[in-house]
Amino acid sequence: MTTYFNYPSAELQKELRGIANAIVTPGKGILAADESAGTMGKRLASVGLENTEENRRRYRQILFTADKELGNYVSGVILFHETLYQKADDGTPFVQLIKNLGIIPGIKTDCGMVPLMGSEGENTTQGLDDLAQRCAQYKKDGCQFAKWRCALKIGKNTPSYLAILENANVLARYASISQMHGLVPIVEPEVLMEGSHDLDRAQKVTETVLAFTYKALNDHHVFLEGTLLKPNMVLPGQECPIKYTPEQAAEFQLLCQELCFLSGGQSEEEATAHLNAINKCTAAKKPWALTFSYGRALQASAIKAWKGSDAKAGQAELLKRARANSLASLGKYETGSVAGVAGKDDLFVKNHQY
Ligand code: 13P
Repeated sequence: MTTYFNYPSAELQKELRGIANAIVTPGKGILAADESAGTMGKRLASVGLENTEENRRRYRQILFTADKELGNYVSGVILFHETLYQKADDGTPFVQLIKNLGIIPGIKTDCGMVPLMGSEGENTTQGLDDLAQRCAQYKKDGCQFAKWRCALKIGKNTPSYLAILENANVLARYASISQMHGLVPIVEPEVLMEGSHDLDRAQKVTETVLAFTYKALNDHHVFLEGTLLKPNMVLPGQECPIKYTPEQAAEFQLLCQELCFLSGGQSEEEATAHLNAINKCTAAKKPWALTFSYGRALQASAIKAWKGSDAKAGQAELLKRARANSLASLGKYETGSVAGVAGKDDLFVKNHQY
């Protein structure tokens, strides 16, 4: 075995580091608006709308024409392929609207999950074959970062060695290809909230998954300063009989040391309260920014208030949630102080696909 490898050129290192740092500016996080057409269909159905390309465009338009204040709380937006090439009513490309808000456009590059044969319902994520060409094109079209999600289930015998190893490897291969094309990879190994496991088990599994992921990133010579980690928060399973306070959960978190969390099916208020408690927790030193990269927990109230026609109401809800999470990323949120129209709604989805 040799440990020799070449670093990326000084120029590429500078570019990747610059993008990653701009995304984790203190008090800012990411809006994950990269729901695939299928997932968007479920969101639109919840407000009685048909899943057409036009309705998906009209909904995304309200997000990207929100008040400029959004740029104070949100540093990056993750887009789905279709959205990247859509335009507002007046013909302005969405990418341009996002840049006008001072927000960095990013793109989901994974192509969804497929089953691992012989496993207990486990998956890997596909999309590597033409990834290099797609990354090159996305970079030309204005994206500065990418996202790839893998999901692992906690059960009696899962996650298995195969699932942990395979998902770590595919994430590392994706990260390496993204960096070669100037995109900062968001590495997302999500340990799902599905199940009845307690906080201890969630913490142990998350730690193991992250350890495998970092070993794979190192094996693939990925330039770590030019990556962002998007992990699950360490939380008990959805059906766990033991209830924990956000402060109790926060202490478990810090043993893993993370960066921009996904919300994973928590309600809007829970996701904000947990992020706040993590940032307030003094039980361990926090060497990195700990912020948000939320999909459901930033948009549930926005789509509910929009209902297909009320852009202003939808945008006001988005801004409220973005501001609340910006405060939480600084540990300055007062629990319960920002009520959204979907505030306590359960956003958990079994077998969630993005
Ligand atoms: P949630 O915050 O809704 O879990 O989604 C974030 C995300 O980007 C999942 O891939």
